[in-house]
Amino acid sequence: MLYDAYKRPLLDLRISVTDRCNFRCIYCMPETEGQQYCFMKREHLMTFEEIVRLANIFARLGVRKIRLTGGEPLLRKDIDVLISMLKEIEGIQDISLTTNGFLLKQYARRLKEAGMKRVNVSLDALNNDIFAVMNGRGVKSEVILEGIDEALAQGLAVKINMVVKKGMNDSEILPMARFFKEKGVTLRFIEFMDVGSLNGWKLDEVVTSKEIYEMITKEMPLEPLEANYVGEVAKRYRYVGTNIEVGFISSVSAAFCSDCTRCRISAEGKLYTCLFATDGADLLKNMRNGATDEEIIAQIRRIWETRHDRYSEERGKNTTLKGKRIEMSYIGG
Ligand code: GTP
Ligand code: 5AD
Ligand code: SF4
Ligand code: SF4
Repeated sequence: MLYDAYKRPLLDLRISVTDRCNFRCIYCMPETEGQQYCFMKREHLMTFEEIVRLANIFARLGVRKIRLTGGEPLLRKDIDVLISMLKEIEGIQDISLTTNGFLLKQYARRLKEAGMKRVNVSLDALNNDIFAVMNGRGVKSEVILEGIDEALAQGLAVKINMVVKKGMNDSEILPMARFFKEKGVTLRFIEFMDVGSLNGWKLDEVVTSKEIYEMITKEMPLEPLEANYVGEVAKRYRYVGTNIEVGFISSVSAAFCSDCTRCRISAEGKLYTCLFATDGADLLKNMRNGATDEEIIAQIRRIWETRHDRYSEERGKNTTLKGKRIEMSYIGG
C-alpha cells in the first residue's frame, strides 16, 4: 500500500477513457460564444491494453476500486470490452462508471454482461426546460430516466448525481428528492464546484448541502448513516422509516480532502493526484518509450509519497477562478 505525505493511502483510481462529451453542461463544458473545445487526437488516447496495464500496476500498489469516467465514458467505443478486461485484474473489488446517461438505455445490458455491478448517473433536473439548459444540448430528462430504468432492469445498482446551481435548478431539489425516494433510488446532491476554469464559478451560486438538507428534512425527515467506506465522498442519510438513501457531496462547504484516497488518469495517460491539479505526470509517454512495470511503479510511488494535495480544504471562502487548471471533462470528476 502507498501512503502520501498526509498518510492517505492510494485506494481508488479514476480513469478517464475519453475527453469528449455529447453534453455541454453549464458547470463543466459550457457552450459559450467563442468557446472551442479541442479534443485529444485518437492516437493520443490510451488503448485498452495500455489502460489495463496501468490498472494492473495500480492494483499491485494497493488500488481496490476503479471508476471509468470521461468526458462521457459511453462514447468510448466498446467500453464493455474494457470492463471485461479490467474485471480480470487481481485485487480490484469494484468497477463502476459515471455517466450522463444519454446512451445508457442502449448500453446498460452490455455493461451488465461485461460484469459491471453499478453506475452513477448524472441528472440535474426533471423539468425539461431546466434540464435542457443545464445539459446545454436541449436533451429531455425522459431520455436519462429511460436509461436509468433500463440499468435497473438489467440489475445494475444506480446512484443519481445532481449538481445544484443557485437560480438554475434549486427549484428541482424537492421534485428530484420526491421522485427518487418514490423510486427507491439513491440521489446525491453535489455542491457546484470551482473546478476547471470555464464555468464562471462564484461562491454565491453554491447551494450548500446544509441548505438542501434543511429543505428536504422538513418535508421528508432524514437520519444519518455511517459511511460505506473511509473517505466516502458523499455523506449518507436515509428517509426515516425506509432504507432509501440520499447523499450530500459537500466539496465546497465541508471539504473531504483529509480522507482523499483518489488519483486520476486522463484519457491521454497523465496521472493527477487532485481534481484541482494543474499538471499531470505522463505515464503513457513513459510506457510508449519502453518503461518497464517496475519503472512505472517507481514513478507512481515517488509521486504519491510526496503528494500534498488538499485543494478543497485550502480553498477558503474567497476563491475566484484563477490560473490554468484541468477541466472536469478532461479528468472526469
Ligand atoms: P462512489 O461513492 O464509489 O459511488 O463514487 P463517487 O461518488 O466517488 O463517484 P462519482 O463519480 O459519482 O462522484 C460524484 C461527484 O463527487 C463528482 O462528480 C465530483 O463532483 C465529486 N467528487 C468525486 N471525487 C472527488 C474528489 O476527489 N474531490 C472533489 N473535490 N470532488 C470529488
Ligand atoms: N461542480 C460539481 N460537480 C461537477 N460535475 C462536473 N462539473 C462539476 C462542477 N463544476 C459532476 C457532474 C457529474 C460528474 C462527472 O461531475 O455532475 O456527476
Ligand atoms: Fe456534463 Fe459530464 Fe459531459 Fe461535463 S463530462 S459536460 S459534466 S456530461
Ligand atoms: Fe482529493 Fe483534491 Fe478533491 Fe481534496 S480537492 S478531495 S485532495 S481531489
